Amino acid sequence: MERGRPPVRQQGLTEGSCHPELCLSPAPAPAVPPFCPVPPAPGAAPGAACAPAVPCRCLLALLTPFTSSPRSSGLVHIKNPHLETMDEDVLYHLDLGTKTHNLPAMFGDIKHGMGIPSVSIMLHELIKLLHHAKCRDVTIIRIGTSGGLGVEAGSVVITDRAVDACFQPRFEQVVLGDVVVRGTDLDGGLVEELLACSKAVPDFPTLVGHTMCTYDFYEGQGRLDGALCSFSNEKKLEYLKRAHDAGVRNIEMESTAFAALCGLCGLRAAVVCVTLLDRLEGDQIRASHEVLHEYQQRPQRLVAAFIRRRLGLCAATGNTQPSSD
Ligand code: URA
Repeated sequence: MERGRPPVRQQGLTEGSCHPELCLSPAPAPAVPPFCPVPPAPGAAPGAACAPAVPCRCLLALLTPFTSSPRSSGLVHIKNPHLETMDEDVLYHLDLGTKTHNLPAMFGDIKHGMGIPSVSIMLHELIKLLHHAKCRDVTIIRIGTSGGLGVEAGSVVITDRAVDACFQPRFEQVVLGDVVVRGTDLDGGLVEELLACSKAVPDFPTLVGHTMCTYDFYEGQGRLDGALCSFSNEKKLEYLKRAHDAGVRNIEMESTAFAALCGLCGLRAAVVCVTLLDRLEGDQIRASHEVLHEYQQRPQRLVAAFIRRRLGLCAATGNTQPSSD
């Protein structure tokens, strides 16, 4: 059933009601429809929705597994007492409602796994969604965690080239029994833009380097601590040093598939990952939960600075730590 369109209003945002860095519409921002991160076209009525004819510049940040919120319940807090009293909450712009849809079943336990199979499935469906939604000029950024190579733990690596475990910029997939090889080019301009944004978050090291993508966390990344290991410590270090000499600065499990799929579908793509350890020093991730939690926020903080810059909201340097409340 078609619902009547309610008037679009820009609600005054309560200070502190949103994440200070990830919020796309902080309080002093100009009137923007709450569902659209793009400021209205010049001359558009305040609060006007994006007309379909207006090119939509979407920014997406994809997250790989994150630790849960430090809050005890982990639930998202809505700071609006009126919501409790409402019989139904219609999320008009998402075409969802608390009565018409089972939101906990649909969204309460979204799992996204690890590695190429998971990122590939998710991207196929996300890219189709962007297509059906007629989104234009989409920029998509994978953010996540990785093992570092010769870089300080906690460094953020912006990938200039996604390479496979033989240090080649390719993604191989078996399709109908044939090995199909696809290129993994990423957007060089985006790398520069992200690096420039790192000046707004100077409290951790950010660098540009190659990212090696593997099909496995253990033997595939030269670890000695898996259930199986077929090589010596010397062989492991020789391999990791070769990777370092080839320009690899971090290792993860998604970037080649991500780069290949996004590139083929015409999305401007970037990969930004924090390193949890230096693999030249060990295999096990030993940092405390608190330290890892802070590390995991670093790519988000860099990408938040990038989004603010893209939206022209970056007058301040924005070097604020995410709020803990
Ligand atoms: N993710 C990886 O794929 N490897 C690591 O060492 C850490 C995170």
